[in-house]
Amino acid sequence: MTGRGGERASAGGPATAGGPASAGAAAGPEPAAGVEAPGSEDRVVSPLADADDRLIEGALRPKRLADFVGQGRVRDQLSLVLEGALRRGRAPDHVLLSGPPGLGKTTMAMIIAAELGAPLRITSGPAIERAGDLASVLSTLSEGEVIFIDEIHRVARPAEEMLYLAMEDFRVDVIIGKGPGATAIPLDIAPFTLVGATTRAGLLPAPLRDRFGFTAYLDFYDPAELEVIVRRSAGLLGVALRDDGADEIAGRSRGTPRIANRLLRRVRDFAEVRADGIVNRQVARAALELYEVDDNGLDRLDRAVLSALVRRFGGGPVGLSTLAVAVGEEAETVEVVAEPFLVREGLVIRTPRGRVATPAAWEYLGLVAPDQGGQGQPAGTLFG
Ligand SMILES: Nc1ncnc2c1ncn2[C@@H]1O[C@H](COP(=O)(O)OP(=O)(O)OP(=O)(O)O)[C@@H](O)[C@H]1O
Ligand SMILES: [Mg+2]
Repeated sequence: MTGRGGERASAGGPATAGGPASAGAAAGPEPAAGVEAPGSEDRVVSPLADADDRLIEGALRPKRLADFVGQGRVRDQLSLVLEGALRRGRAPDHVLLSGPPGLGKTTMAMIIAAELGAPLRITSGPAIERAGDLASVLSTLSEGEVIFIDEIHRVARPAEEMLYLAMEDFRVDVIIGKGPGATAIPLDIAPFTLVGATTRAGLLPAPLRDRFGFTAYLDFYDPAELEVIVRRSAGLLGVALRDDGADEIAGRSRGTPRIANRLLRRVRDFAEVRADGIVNRQVARAALELYEVDDNGLDRLDRAVLSALVRRFGGGPVGLSTLAVAVGEEAETVEVVAEPFLVREGLVIRTPRGRVATPAAWEYLGLVAPDQGGQGQPAGTLFG
C-alpha cells in the first residue's frame, strides 16, 4: 500500500504516485485498489490492479482531460467545474468519483490536479486510521492543493467527522489532551479540493456524500472507446497493433481500460514469442484463447457467479452473501468486481430479494431458463 498520508505526486509531470520505490522513470507504484488483486492467480481479466499493472499504469495514464477517452458526460461536466473555478481563481467543489475498479478514477483525480495546475497529495482511506492522520495531512496543505483520498469509504469514523468540517469550513479541530480536560483547538486550513474515489458509493455516509459538490459515476466503456485506448497504449508501448487486433482486444476487455491495457501486454508477449511481433486479430485470438479470456471478456469469477446462480440456486433470487460463499469469495469482491459488469451485460439483475439470473445468463451457460419452457436442460435437448 502506497499513499500513507502526505505523499506527493507532481500533477503536471509524469503522474507517478511518488512512492519511494519508483521503479521506472514514468511509472511509479500506484495506490492499491479497494479490493486487493488475488495473488498470482491467472485472472488475466480481473479488473483489480496487480503489481505489474501498477508499475506500468503510470506511463499509460492520460495526463489531461482532452486525452481521457470516453465518459463524455463526466468529462464535459467536469471541464465546466474546473474551468469555472479557474476563472474565479478559487478552488473548485470537492469531487467524488465512483465506479467499479479499473475505469479511471485515479487517472481522473490526477487529471483534475493537472488541469488546475495544482499540486496533488495522494492518500487513501485505509491510511487514515485516526483523526490525527488526517489532521496532519490537512494542516500542511497549501492553498488550492488537490488532495486525493482513494477508497474514501474506508476512512475511519473519527477521521470522517474531521473531514466533514474540513470540507465545509476549511477548519479542523485539533484535540489537545485526553479525557474530561481535553480541549479542541480550531485550526484554519488553506482552501483545498478534495477528490474522493470509491468503488462502493453506497457505503459512504450521507453527510460525507452531501459534501461533495460534484459526483461523477464512471461507467463501463464501450468497445469502440476501448479500441481507442488500446491503440493509444500500443503507441506508447511501441506495440505493432493492427486495427483488427485492437478490435479483438477491445471486445474482450470487459468494458475496463485496465483490462484492455493488460490484455494488450499479454497479446504483445504472445506476438513476440510465437509470431512475428505484429498484433492482428488472429494473433490476438490465439493469445486470448491461451489465457482463457472468453469472447465477452467474462472472468473466471464472473463465470463462477453465473454458474452458481443458475445451477445451484435455480436462477435466484439469492442473497449476495450466500452467492459469495458458493463461489468461495468475499461478498465485497463479488459485489464490486463481478456484479457490476454482469448487471451491465444484462446477465444478472439485482432485486430487493436478491440476485436473479436473466434468460441471457442461462443462454450464456448453454441452458434454457425455466420460464422459457425448459427446466434448465441443455438448450439442444429441448426439441429433441
Ligand atoms: N479514459 C481512459 N482513457 C485511457 N486510459 C484509461 C482511461 N481510464 C483508465 N485508463 C487506464 O486504465 C488504467 C486504470 O485506471 P485507474 O487506475 O485510473 O482506475 P481506477 O478506477 O482508479 O481503479 P481502482 O478502483 O482499482 O483504483 C490506467 O492505467 C489508465 O492507463
Ligand atoms: Mg484507483
